[in-house]
Amino acid sequence: MRDERFERFEVEPFTGSLGASIRGVDLVADDDDVVREVQRALHEYHVLAVRDQSLDIERLHVVARRFGPFSGNPVHTPVDGYEDIVRFVREPDDSGKVIGEEWHMDLAWLARPPGITMLFGEEVPPVGGDTCFTSLEKAYQSLSPRMVAMLAELTGIHSGRGVFAINAAHSRLGLKNEYESVENTAVEHPVICEHPVTGRKYVFVSSVLTHFKGMTEEESRPLIDFLMARAIRPEFNCRLRWETNTLGMWNNPYVLHTAINDYSGYRRVMYRTTVEGGAPQAARLSS
Ligand SMILES: [Fe+2]
Repeated sequence: MRDERFERFEVEPFTGSLGASIRGVDLVADDDDVVREVQRALHEYHVLAVRDQSLDIERLHVVARRFGPFSGNPVHTPVDGYEDIVRFVREPDDSGKVIGEEWHMDLAWLARPPGITMLFGEEVPPVGGDTCFTSLEKAYQSLSPRMVAMLAELTGIHSGRGVFAINAAHSRLGLKNEYESVENTAVEHPVICEHPVTGRKYVFVSSVLTHFKGMTEEESRPLIDFLMARAIRPEFNCRLRWETNTLGMWNNPYVLHTAINDYSGYRRVMYRTTVEGGAPQAARLSS
């Protein structure tokens, strides 16, 4: 099925909830109108697989910056010469967890989490290594009005505690010397939010949501577990199948994503960059 609302390129939805593949663009060479249209598709679908992009580090940098300034990344050491790009490598004989192997949002513990994450596969397995996404907008829509009203009064505390430990378990990742400041970071985000451009509402839940303001972690945990379980239901998911020359990009604060650890024996080399986003905005709910 092609989405006819987009005329400059071909948009094919992944599932009924989110995600689409795009063909027929060159994000390095095409004009700014095309970039704005891709941005519009991103607002619509939250996750895009832009196929047939012939990128290297420099060109990824150029493409990313057409979508906005770098968000910053206090955790990972960047590649030489590009402070906005990180390289994730998995060798065929690496074992244990792959990076990002839990449902999460990138850098959710920042006051302004990245608005867009981009991932480009330099080398992808012939099979396996997909990335799964779930829609926090669909999760919001599935909640009862009373539940939404209650959540709207809560403020989530998202913590950087443990972030370095998770990343340090991946020996091929270089980490910055900012352990103390990241560990001690705890930011407040509204639980029921709305998109600043589309006004569409979503539930802001992440794997680093430790508790709600004014409540203990023990008191908060059942509600957080409920929200996470609701958010990752299969009907709210899509799966991005990586191909050579696919640029994946997603609206980071409106989805959760998880890496799939099913490509043992294959090498996978990905470059990641992020675009700055705003502070999550509390939804205006009509009472
Ligand atoms: Fe991630």
